[in-house]
Amino acid sequence: MTDTTTATPQDTHIDLTDQERAADLKIEELKRLVGLVEYDESTDPFPVTGWDAIVFVVGNATQTAHYYQSAWGMELVGYSGPENGNRDHKAFVLKSGSIRFVVKGAVQPDSPLIEHHAKHGDGVVDISLEVPDVDKCIAQAKAAGARVVQEPETVSDEFGSVRIGAIATYGETRHTLVQRTIDGETYAGPYLPGYVARTSDFVKRDGAPKRLFQALDHIVGNVELGKMDEWVAFYNRVMGFVNMAEFIGDDIATDYSALMSKVVANGNHRVKFPLNEPAIAKKKSQIDEYLEFYNGPGAQHLALATNDILTTVDELRKEGVEFLDTPDAYYDDPEMRARIGEVRVPIEELKKRKILVDRDEDGYLLQIFTKPLGDRPTVFFEIIERHGSLGFGKGNFKALFESIEREQEKRGNL
Ligand SMILES: [Fe+2]
Repeated sequence: MTDTTTATPQDTHIDLTDQERAADLKIEELKRLVGLVEYDESTDPFPVTGWDAIVFVVGNATQTAHYYQSAWGMELVGYSGPENGNRDHKAFVLKSGSIRFVVKGAVQPDSPLIEHHAKHGDGVVDISLEVPDVDKCIAQAKAAGARVVQEPETVSDEFGSVRIGAIATYGETRHTLVQRTIDGETYAGPYLPGYVARTSDFVKRDGAPKRLFQALDHIVGNVELGKMDEWVAFYNRVMGFVNMAEFIGDDIATDYSALMSKVVANGNHRVKFPLNEPAIAKKKSQIDEYLEFYNGPGAQHLALATNDILTTVDELRKEGVEFLDTPDAYYDDPEMRARIGEVRVPIEELKKRKILVDRDEDGYLLQIFTKPLGDRPTVFFEIIERHGSLGFGKGNFKALFESIEREQEKRGNL
């Protein structure tokens, strides 16, 4: 295990994004929630401001949009579909804090989304990033040998204009790059040109919190055996991302399965991408299972940042969201207790909810993982509450993987 942090946070000014401002978040809060750091954007060959949207293709966007509202407390804010000229698919835009999800489902039987869904099932097709200058990013991407899947173009409607382009990343996933301010004018629509504002009649239960998560912390990509370093190099070379902690070999092995993981982040650390590949072990690893059922590399989990994981988990359980189980032994192990030390709540509260704890030299984090969100054992969510630690729960990987293996075994995939 080596810890390499090549990022040197500069004492430079950092601004809230429009989405963060709209969500009433503060810089200090974001530093704690997602480990935001200040950095000098002027020397970055591929400046990235933060997440723009996470775009999912699903089998039934109408019902998925309801699920994200009813179970995950998200707010419906935008829509595109046959009623406003998009005959191919329905797309619903949902928000929680500073993060936006877009769920798309095919309407036409010959929609390209049908083919994508048949191959991959429900999953993330686009990890869209907000950038201050699309043309600069695409020029850099080309110079560094990336595959450009959409040349920069300006798209407009009555709310103004955005400039967008896109590059390919692992599998059939892409990064659409969105520039929302052109010549000082910021786009004022609900999402992108072609989308209309839309709210819903859904009413939250009495006493439900305003939102269950404030921001997106990281998205993990699963890639094939031997490809992790290639994708780390891609993010370094093409997008100027820096390496964070890396985990190798025995660090994340159980008796049966193993994986390797390295983490890259953009300059301000809003965007963090752990990249996993399977490692040789006695049985099929969770990464192999993902690659088989997703039919190739793709986004494995999205970590949602909350400042109150106890309430978030309680609310999600009330709505029927299922989490991975953690054996009581995890909490009762004296070595584990000593390693965790004091955290903001009694360990019993964590044990009751099966929330995991990890500690490193910077602080600690609380985390828990859902079961797969869809029918295939592929994409899932993590809920994370950071207290100084900028890690990803390395100390929990073994306990977590053993839990995943129990689920894999039930599915007959171990
Ligand atoms: Fe994670």
